Amino acid sequence: MSPSVQSHELLDAVRSGATGPELQDIDLPGSFRAAYTLKNEVGIFDGQADKDVRRSLHVGEVDMPELAPDECVVAVMAAAINFNTVWSAIFEPIPTFAFLEKFGRQGWHGARHDLPYHVLGSDAAGVVVRTGSGVKRWKAGDKVVVSPSYVDEEDHGSYDDGMMSETQLAWGFETNFGALGEYCIVKANQLVHKPAHLSWEEAGSNTLCAATAYRMLVGSHGARMKQGDVVLVWGASGGLGSYATQLVKNGGGIPVGVVSSAEKAELVRAQGCEHVINRSELDLGEQGLRHPKAGRMLGEAIRRLVGEDPGIVFEYLGRETFGASVYVAKRGGKIVTCGSSTGYKHEYDNRFLWMRLKSIIGSHGFNYHEAVEVNRLIGLGMIHPTLSAVFPLDGAAEATRAVQTNQHTGKVAVLCGATAEGQGVDDPAMRERIGEDKLNLYRS
Ligand SMILES: NC(=O)c1ccc[n+]([C@@H]2O[C@H](COP(=O)([O-])OP(=O)(O)OC[C@H]3O[C@@H](n4cnc5c(N)ncnc54)[C@H](OP(=O)(O)O)[C@@H]3O)[C@@H](O)[C@H]2O)c1
Repeated sequence: MSPSVQSHELLDAVRSGATGPELQDIDLPGSFRAAYTLKNEVGIFDGQADKDVRRSLHVGEVDMPELAPDECVVAVMAAAINFNTVWSAIFEPIPTFAFLEKFGRQGWHGARHDLPYHVLGSDAAGVVVRTGSGVKRWKAGDKVVVSPSYVDEEDHGSYDDGMMSETQLAWGFETNFGALGEYCIVKANQLVHKPAHLSWEEAGSNTLCAATAYRMLVGSHGARMKQGDVVLVWGASGGLGSYATQLVKNGGGIPVGVVSSAEKAELVRAQGCEHVINRSELDLGEQGLRHPKAGRMLGEAIRRLVGEDPGIVFEYLGRETFGASVYVAKRGGKIVTCGSSTGYKHEYDNRFLWMRLKSIIGSHGFNYHEAVEVNRLIGLGMIHPTLSAVFPLDGAAEATRAVQTNQHTGKVAVLCGATAEGQGVDDPAMRERIGEDKLNLYRS
């Protein structure tokens, strides 16, 4: 039997709702279809202005790796594009093959990941089809969401907070066998029960952005937002921003969303964010947000809307926005940052930081607890998916291009094993209670 026929036999069984024992009885395929980058293409974008990810992201057959005792094979029904897939596909700031090589030096466990291809993707929902010999709590047939935080529990650094381990990795970015394929390999600790009211593509698009925003705003390691806090959210209709806005509202804070168009402003308002600033309407000329007066103009706009300065600024844009972010935070305020989309060498006027006793909090990913907590909020229907578009697996590069060029809102999903949108909903009554308008807000 050819590998892809085997792959389909197991996938068909998953799709038809086969039981765990039935799934165990079907052989794992030797290979499967997935989206990957190639090591021998590192450098193809050197000197090019438009590093178009459609040139570097390929879809084809890859080998099924050997399973470690603490791992599971998940048949991926749907996955999502995150900005890290864009970084991987443009080989910046460093080619992710360097991460795989480093992982490979850790012995057999890591060496399986060090391959000439890298299967990308850090968000998935699907069905467990195999468990390693050491896995106790999960079994074939379980419907799951995969959290991308990959922690080595033997590392003492991880005991208090998994993110404090030097060996912590982002699955599908710093490891191989990620989300964008018919199957993926995960550590059992990455698994969370799938929210029953969501479709595969909705369930598989939340965790990375939602949990990152949760740690930044709510968790004990971030800005620890409290009721009534004014929170400035850059890119409020983007991946991170669309969850940050919801978490602020849900926690009794006052979000002020920044967006770049009237349509996005409308979307963010419909999400319950009363105060929205369209940055394209700030008269900043060519320098944009790096204009020396950008902070003051933004600050004035925020005061006009809410009457006070933000206690928390939700940052991830870096070079273009960081100076304004530091400026607009209130006395004693916090700038919490997890990225630098527009450049990682920032400039800001330090007088506004120290004289006004502000602090900058670096944040990265989330620990297992934070991933579970935010998925609990999603499962309870308090935080909703922000899915705006769905592509087939063969269109993974197009999906990534949409995110690369900021053509999207919220999240972009990729159907891997699911044959159509809307599959996988096990609790239609809860869906009805929440309302399709809320669950599909970003698709309208
Ligand atoms: N460290 C971590 O754990 C972690 C986790 C997740 C993401 N990240 C990083 O966070 C960044 C954002 O990720 P994402 O998934 O939210 O991306 P995204 O979906 O592309 O959203 C980014 C948002 O940024 C806004 N934006 C783009 N260019 C801008 C500019 N020049 N000035 C102001 N706003 C601009 C856009 O909104 P408007 O155009 O409407 O303003 C867009 O909605 C990426 O760099 C990613 O790598 C880090």
